[in-house]
Amino acid sequence: MENHNNRPSKNRGYYVKMKLMHKHGRPQQEKNNFNTFHKYFKWILWLSLSLYFFTSYLISNNNNNSHNNNNIKHQKTKPTHVIKSLSQPISTNKTESLKNLKVFIYDLPPKYNTNWLTNSRCKTHLFASEVAIHRALLTSDVRTFDPYDADFFFVPVYVSCNFSTVNGFPAIGHARSLISSAVKLISTEYPFWNRSRGSDHVFVASHDFGSCFHTLEDVAMKDGVPEILKKSIVLQTFGVTYEHPCQKVEHVVIPPFVSPESVRNTLENFPVSGRRDIWVFFRGKMEVHPKNVSGRFYSKKVRTVIWKKFNGDRRFYLQRHRFAGYQSEIARSVFCLCPLGWAPWSPRLVESVALGCVPVIIADGIRLPFSSAVKWSEISVTVAEKDVWRLAEILEKVAATNLSSIQRNLWDPRTKKALLFNSWVQEGDATWQVLHSLSEKLYRSYRSSRVSRQLDSDT
Ligand SMILES: *[C@@H]1O[C@H](CO)[C@@H](O)[C@H](O)[C@H]1NC(C)=O
Ligand SMILES: *[C@@H]1O[C@H](CO)[C@@H](O)[C@H](O)[C@H]1NC(C)=O
Ligand SMILES: *[C@@H]1O[C@H](CO)[C@@H](O)[C@H](O)[C@H]1NC(C)=O
Ligand SMILES: *[C@@H]1O[C@H](CO)[C@@H](O)[C@H](O)[C@H]1NC(C)=O
Ligand SMILES: *[C@@H]1O[C@H](CO)[C@@H](O)[C@H](O)[C@H]1NC(C)=O
Repeated sequence: MENHNNRPSKNRGYYVKMKLMHKHGRPQQEKNNFNTFHKYFKWILWLSLSLYFFTSYLISNNNNNSHNNNNIKHQKTKPTHVIKSLSQPISTNKTESLKNLKVFIYDLPPKYNTNWLTNSRCKTHLFASEVAIHRALLTSDVRTFDPYDADFFFVPVYVSCNFSTVNGFPAIGHARSLISSAVKLISTEYPFWNRSRGSDHVFVASHDFGSCFHTLEDVAMKDGVPEILKKSIVLQTFGVTYEHPCQKVEHVVIPPFVSPESVRNTLENFPVSGRRDIWVFFRGKMEVHPKNVSGRFYSKKVRTVIWKKFNGDRRFYLQRHRFAGYQSEIARSVFCLCPLGWAPWSPRLVESVALGCVPVIIADGIRLPFSSAVKWSEISVTVAEKDVWRLAEILEKVAATNLSSIQRNLWDPRTKKALLFNSWVQEGDATWQVLHSLSEKLYRSYRSSRVSRQLDSDT
């Protein structure tokens, strides 16, 4: 993060120049120059690659005539495929599966983002995915410094770091105005927002009710998604399987932020396959405001029921107060309760998975992050809110039947990886999963749709 302001780049210098030219009314020519340069560069690259592969093809063919596989046969009969099939070894899985996605990151003034980092909690607390995704994208392969070449535009605004001096909770009252000010800035200084009306622009909304930007569900629902974001793509922690005004925007459900360093430190002392001497674990508030959805008063006091029914049960380790070493407790537990709180989601879910404790999800209708990478039904136990009083019985049954197969799935390192945001994008980690989800939305990309339209009209 620290290095993002002094990250030198020839390309970026070029774009800054281009942007300045914009202001003096000569964007088109400059853009054309750039494209011309690009075109020739591509040709030279293509030629050298062809030469290289043609030579290596000759060599390998001479060395190994009997190794006449399908690929080579194919090349002899269909020369147009030569480059494609021969160049496959150099393209990694990453670019393959991300479909050569390109993301431009707006370089906003620091009041929108990095100024907030003076409070160190800004990049570690549970909403810090807004910081983590930005940081990882800055050094990612998918980043492009040429906005004309971008599929998506990332707008890095940190809205969750105004921590209350009273209770430490982030005040997000300024979120809407900060975001709309950022949008105003980019839509006047750059042409990309207006041309797509923001539909290829990406934001992070990592707090309780995502793109509604309010901590209370009834107010969040009443306020809805800000008009300005309604066409954009929002990466949000909030997700439910039913209709909800706070997900009425194109979105990707992301996990809450849990520091990968803290997980690593805990696992050094409490390895995943170590002794688990706590059977069922929960630490947190036992009374949470009952839900009040659309005026219908739901009194699903899930946590209260858990406390009343199982506090005193020797199999249950339930604690109401904060404790800095709680991660070690998770790593020592077989089952970790993840009941809904203010919102259905909670960082407990990620911490449980990362530390190998089977998450017991008690949040009806929750939509979980990255379901294509994380097979939630194979690594967790879901208990309906109405059945919470039968918790012990349900978990006893799991323990007696399929606990070990759930643990085996859960302890697959790929599962943990998919839910953690690293400083640099690693294949399969949380930021990578975000990019993968974006690569499935390329139809929203202004650039891609133009390219395909052009191809259509060319043929
Ligand atoms: C691509 O993925 C396959 C399996 O999915 C793996 O065996 C192979 O090593 C990967 N190749 C690269 C270049 O990462
Ligand atoms: C931060 O929150 C406080 C209330 O806790 C508010 O008075 C202040 O205006 C907020 N700051 C910004 C920049 O929104
Ligand atoms: C985009 O549209 C807004 C509102 O119509 C306008 O004020 C702004 O100047 C436009 N931006 C550009 C770069 O043309
Ligand atoms: C629930 O919300 C409705 C409107 O959203 C409000 O009129 C009602 O007073 C709320 N009930 C409680 C108990 O908070
Ligand atoms: C474990 O068993 C329960 C029923 O007892 C079943 O609902 C669940 O799908 C099973 N999970 C796995 C991963 O086999």
